[in-house]
Amino acid sequence: MMQTRVAQLEEGKDPAVTRGTNQSRALRVRLLQLFGLFVLLCIALSVIISLYTVKRFGINGVVTTTATSNFFSCYEEPTSLARLIRPPTNLLHTMNDKELLWRASFVPRINKYPFRRVPKIAFMFLTKGPLPLAPLWEKFLKGHEGLYSIYIHSLPSFNAKFPSSSSFYRRQIPSQVSEWGKMSMCDAERRLLANALLDVSNEWFVLLSESCIPLYKFSVIYHYVLKSKDSFVGAYDDPGPYGRGRYNQNMAPVVNISQWRKGSQWFEINRKLAIDIVEDSTYYRKFEAFCKPACYVDEHYFPTMLTIQAANLIANRSITWVDWSRGGSHPATFGRADITVEFFKKILQGHKCIYNNQSISICFLFARKFSPSTLEPLLRIAPKVLGF
Ligand SMILES: *[C@@H]1O[C@H](CO)[C@@H](O)[C@H](O)[C@H]1NC(C)=O
Ligand SMILES: *[C@@H]1O[C@H](CO)[C@@H](O)[C@H](O)[C@H]1NC(C)=O
Ligand SMILES: *[C@@H]1O[C@H](CO)[C@@H](O)[C@H](O)[C@H]1NC(C)=O
Repeated sequence: MMQTRVAQLEEGKDPAVTRGTNQSRALRVRLLQLFGLFVLLCIALSVIISLYTVKRFGINGVVTTTATSNFFSCYEEPTSLARLIRPPTNLLHTMNDKELLWRASFVPRINKYPFRRVPKIAFMFLTKGPLPLAPLWEKFLKGHEGLYSIYIHSLPSFNAKFPSSSSFYRRQIPSQVSEWGKMSMCDAERRLLANALLDVSNEWFVLLSESCIPLYKFSVIYHYVLKSKDSFVGAYDDPGPYGRGRYNQNMAPVVNISQWRKGSQWFEINRKLAIDIVEDSTYYRKFEAFCKPACYVDEHYFPTMLTIQAANLIANRSITWVDWSRGGSHPATFGRADITVEFFKKILQGHKCIYNNQSISICFLFARKFSPSTLEPLLRIAPKVLGF
């Protein structure tokens, strides 16, 4: 093997130069021979070590793996910035939450990136199992590779089966059971944020469910969040029983009642706030101990915490549209028959909100809740009403 390599190198040379420098040529050959010897030594050593391991610990089947890994360590790829910032290709890891949150909380102290960083949106799907509307999302994402990442947190038992061509292929993160209204739901959201933070290019983090849809084409949504000075977290002070009524005096003085906020769980936040959430332990402890049903922690923890820590960085409104007009404790779920042009006019028009301190009519970028039966009509109507 070494000989063919030497031969190839020699053949590639300019003959004029080679002829004139016989001495340096001999030196090169000698160096290559030495290198070959070194590689052989490495292999021999690995084999000896692994044989020894097998003999000593009686481990079978170790020979090949140890030998190859040691073999590769001889020429391991040198550390480069590109290698350090490359996002993990495999989202599966063996870190527990404590380890993951710690790793995700790393923040550079130099603000200017020494490379061309194209900021990405992390779409984080919090779901029980399948994503029936995935084909609509694929249509929405098509052609925008490099500007987004997908993360899926599902029941641990669920195994998503997306084809390798799909944007959702192998995007499941190590998950745990989470229940609505309980701390395990916030844990799942923190887990999604932490996994997404491991990719340094992710700049905005959108929490979505399997029943969410995008309301505009990708470029509109990307620029809306790119240009926004604020993150979008619903946070309001509700004086009634379902707002302040859920506050527990034991949270003072860390959280006092005037700081208590309520808001929808579906947020869109920037990297700074994502790190604030991931690194928090002060508020976490209070909410874990004193906000249990009928205090629904996923409606209060992040809105309250961010109001205390970063009130000037949040818009106090969610950009995920939902219909509470039908009454009851759950918002409306839409089915196949609801998907009409008029229906989308109602969702997209007639709003007014503040965006970068100015009044604007685009207030919602996503909507919920859409049942699986809406997929086919949504795909059909999307080019006309949603622009993709
Ligand atoms: C709650 O905090 C606000 C602002 O820090 C303060 O003005 C108010 O007095 C506090 N209220 C109580 C009951 O501690
Ligand atoms: C959101 O509410 C906080 C007070 O809770 C306020 O300080 C902040 O300015 C509000 N943000 C916007 C964009 O209005
Ligand atoms: C926001 O708008 C209000 C009124 O339109 C103005 O008084 C205020 O100075 C503006 N704030 C910023 C930060 O531009």
